[in-house]
Amino acid sequence: MRSTILTWATGFLVGWASLAANAEKFQHLADTPAMGWNSWNTFDCNVDESMIREMADAMVESGMKAAGYEYINIDDCWHGERDVKGNIQVNKERFPSGMKALADYVHQRGLKLGIYSDAGNTTCAGYPGSRGYEYQDARTYAEWGIDYLKYDWCDTENINPIGAYTTMRDALKRAGRPILFSICEWGDNQPWSWAQDVGHSWRVSGDIYPCWDCELSWGSWSSWGVLKILDMRADERLRQYAGPGHWNDYDMLEVGNGMTEAQDRSHFTLWAMLNSPLIAGNDLRNMSDATRDILTNRDIIALNQDVLGVQAMKYLHQGELMIYVKPLEGGDWAFMFLNRGDTPLSYTHDWAHHFEVKDDQFGHHINFHDQQFTWRRLWRDGEGDTSKPLRLKLAAHDVAVLRLSPVR
Ligand code: GLA
Repeated sequence: MRSTILTWATGFLVGWASLAANAEKFQHLADTPAMGWNSWNTFDCNVDESMIREMADAMVESGMKAAGYEYINIDDCWHGERDVKGNIQVNKERFPSGMKALADYVHQRGLKLGIYSDAGNTTCAGYPGSRGYEYQDARTYAEWGIDYLKYDWCDTENINPIGAYTTMRDALKRAGRPILFSICEWGDNQPWSWAQDVGHSWRVSGDIYPCWDCELSWGSWSSWGVLKILDMRADERLRQYAGPGHWNDYDMLEVGNGMTEAQDRSHFTLWAMLNSPLIAGNDLRNMSDATRDILTNRDIIALNQDVLGVQAMKYLHQGELMIYVKPLEGGDWAFMFLNRGDTPLSYTHDWAHHFEVKDDQFGHHINFHDQQFTWRRLWRDGEGDTSKPLRLKLAAHDVAVLRLSPVR
């Protein structure tokens, strides 16, 4: 009798411990923001296995992999039906070799494969969602060798977002394969305030569109230009929630998708400074040199991937000029000067006048009276120090970025 009770108690404890172990996300999958590519911005629903394979090849050949990009993510529309047991299948016409073979192909190139699902009954494009199938789908993704899950928020009326995303987090953990969990809930329910332990990043806005400051209405929802997304989440408190392992996601990149070079440069710099995941959304097989140079700029990527993981803060907004600053590892700082306006801008920044920078949220401060810095310009040549005012000429919608290092 006693031994039965003991066995029962041990079984209970082991069971409880293993359940408790599942009640967390996988750690260290996004100590710095994820970098990769996603099909949606260019291909919409037109995804198939040969295109995805070509994209993996292009990520290697273009130098993007060497610059740090890792994930090849298939967005909506890869799905077929569920089989009689409820297992989700791929669309067999588009993915005749199956998802496992595709994951193998991507892995053989030293890259990782991402997939997309939805917390509701159907995805945004109307394919089967994961509602009620969370554990089963997570197991399927793990069996296929998936490394990243973007989890959308369509068709979720009356569903509690914290519950829905936590269920999928636990399902992924239970399935046992480390899968980065990318929450795509558009910022509707302030995910920054609850998702730190649920996902590795959370979207803060509706969908991006490749324009500088436009809103494109689709009736009940809109797509947003770069400045619109920036301004929508101008609340400086958002940055306090982001850090290693959990990032604000300002949506996938539109670099190379029709904006001007200056706009692309500013968009990329902003997303890097904000510690957003850098998920390219252009056709990597046919990009211009200018697009490739932007996407692979190592100095800018280094700001995004800086191990301190502190999101940039707005330092000044004066007319069309915005200055963002970002504390970096080792006492360095990034300063970004952005011309939002449609005409060129001349600006002189006097460090002696703007002598104080205070990041109270993360406890990083500069006093230029007490501490001199040297600076190096990113995107183009240029060096100097903070003993003399900085004169800048910024083209319309363009950016100047400095990396400051303390003089010891
Ligand atoms: C939503 C998401 C987009 C994309 C589409 C796919 O709109 O926000 O990023 O995944 O669904 O249908």
